[in-house]
Amino acid sequence: MEPSILSADYSRLGEQVAAVMGAGARGIHVDVMDGHFVPPITIGTVIVEAIRNQVHEGGGMIDCHLMIERPERQVAEFAKSGADSITIQFEATPNIHYALMQIRDHGCLAGLAINPGTPPEAVSELVDVVDLVLCMTVNPGWGGQAFIERSPEKVRQLRKVLGPGIPIQVDGGISAKTAPLVKREGATLFVSGSQIFHTPDPAAAYREIAEVVGA
Ligand code: DX5
Ligand code: ZN
Repeated sequence: MEPSILSADYSRLGEQVAAVMGAGARGIHVDVMDGHFVPPITIGTVIVEAIRNQVHEGGGMIDCHLMIERPERQVAEFAKSGADSITIQFEATPNIHYALMQIRDHGCLAGLAINPGTPPEAVSELVDVVDLVLCMTVNPGWGGQAFIERSPEKVRQLRKVLGPGIPIQVDGGISAKTAPLVKREGATLFVSGSQIFHTPDPAAAYREIAEVVGA
């Protein structure tokens, strides 16, 4: 289970990261938005730099989800700032194969995200250059949206395209209730934001979902 700090309280970010890591989280999900690929502008490399020592010293990794146009222009900066894994959107560049290879060349795990409107077959030409595939279970851009009901079926189809080896991550509307629906169809990595940080006790909320997915 990977908490998304998109819904965290940035006035006490270190404390919030410590809470979820104390509850067992070893991946911290950073949602980067540019105001072009998606309407909001969120955070960037300065936040990755700010948490890198804390996360790495605690034995964790930083998973950057870039919801930005032409992500290949930003890979080097994110790798330098402390990202361990960089996930880019299939829809964000005409040079997706190149961009994924570039991520690996910078020493990071390469993730490929597909939007709800993108068919699972889209990833078939990219299986040799990805370390994980992120199946968006909401449209990217905002935390706290409702889980798209068709998502378990999408994950099932994606698992067929990918075979057993490549991890499938799910992101958006993931809760103790929805996580088992996608886990059953082959999802292996779970991202959750508002269900953890918009609660009075993020550590307890983290534990509850982590227990359900067993990860
Ligand atoms: C959505 C982001 C998600 C977001 C999920 O564009 O990619 O990572 O933080 O938030 P919740 O878990 O609240 O749906
Ligand atoms: Zn995300």
